[in-house]
Amino acid sequence: MYPELKGKNALVTGATRGFGREIALRLAREGCNVIVNFRRSKSEALNVVAEIEKIGNGVRAVAVRGDVGSEKSLHKLFEQIENEFDSLQIVIANAAFGVPGTLMDTTSRHFEVTLASSARSLMHLAQHAVPMMKGDWGRIVSITSEGGQKVLPGYGVIGPAKAALESITRYLAVELAPRGVVVNGVMAGPCFTRSLSAIPGAEELLENAACRAPMQRLIDGEDVAKTVTFLCSDEARMICGQFIFVDGGCSIAK
Ligand SMILES: NC(=O)c1ccc[n+]([C@@H]2O[C@H](COP(=O)([O-])OP(=O)(O)OC[C@H]3O[C@@H](n4cnc5c(N)ncnc54)[C@H](OP(=O)(O)O)[C@@H]3O)[C@@H](O)[C@H]2O)c1
Repeated sequence: MYPELKGKNALVTGATRGFGREIALRLAREGCNVIVNFRRSKSEALNVVAEIEKIGNGVRAVAVRGDVGSEKSLHKLFEQIENEFDSLQIVIANAAFGVPGTLMDTTSRHFEVTLASSARSLMHLAQHAVPMMKGDWGRIVSITSEGGQKVLPGYGVIGPAKAALESITRYLAVELAPRGVVVNGVMAGPCFTRSLSAIPGAEELLENAACRAPMQRLIDGEDVAKTVTFLCSDEARMICGQFIFVDGGCSIAK
C-alpha cells in the first residue's frame, strides 16, 4: 500500500479492459479517485466504474468518453474532468490504437491514426493535465511494448509509434521534473488482450515469449498494474524518464 496515493485523482486512458482496467482497479484500491476513459466501450467502462464503487473505500469513479488520438476529443474529455474534479494528479497513458501490418503496405492515413493515438496523445494529455496538477505533485506513466525497440511481425507502424511514445516520455520527464511531475513508462511483455489478438502472428509471439521468459509464464494485467502503481508512489520519486520492463525476463532471454 502507498498511503500517499489516497485521495489523488487519476485518469487512466483506455480503462475498459486489458491493462487499463487492471490499472484503474489497483489505483482505486490504493484510494485514488479514477476517471475511467473509454473510446467506444461505454458499457465495459461502466462495469469498471461499478467494480471500483464496490471496493468501497470512499473512492469516486467516473466513466468519460474520449478518443486520445483526437485533439478535439481530448479537449472535451478534459472539460468533463474539470467539471467533476478540481485537480488531477495522475495520468496513465495506456490507450493505444494501431493498425497492424508492414510499413510497405501501410497508408498515410493508417500511419497518422496510429501515431496520433499511440504517441502524440501523450503530449496532448500532458498539456491538458499538467496545469491541473498545480505545480504540486504529479505522475505520468506511459505504456509501451517491445515493438518500439525491436522489429516484431505486424508492428511495422505500431513499433515506430511506440518508439515515438518512448521518446516523448523521456522529453516530458525532463521538461516536467522541475514542476514536480514525475514521468516514466512501463515496457510490458506480450499478454493476450483484444488489441494483441488483432495482430497477425500474435499466437506465435505469445508462445515464443512464454518459452523464452525465465519466469516461465506470460505476464498479466495485474503485473503491469502493480508496477504502474509503484511508479505513481513516492517510492519511485527519483526514477525519471525510465522504462521498467515487466515481461518475466523474456526480453533478455534467447
Ligand atoms: N497486450 C499486450 O501484449 C501489450 C504489450 C505491451 C504493451 N501493450 C500496451 O498496453 C496498452 C493497453 O493495451 P491492451 O493490450 O490492454 O489493450 P486492450 O485490452 O485491447 O484495451 C485497449 C483499451 O484502449 C482503449 N482505446 C483504444 N483506442 C483508444 C483511443 N483512441 N482513445 C481512447 N481509448 C482507446 C479501448 O477502449 P474502447 O474499447 O472503448 O475503444 C480499451 O479500453 C496499449 O498501449 C498497448 O500498446 C500491450
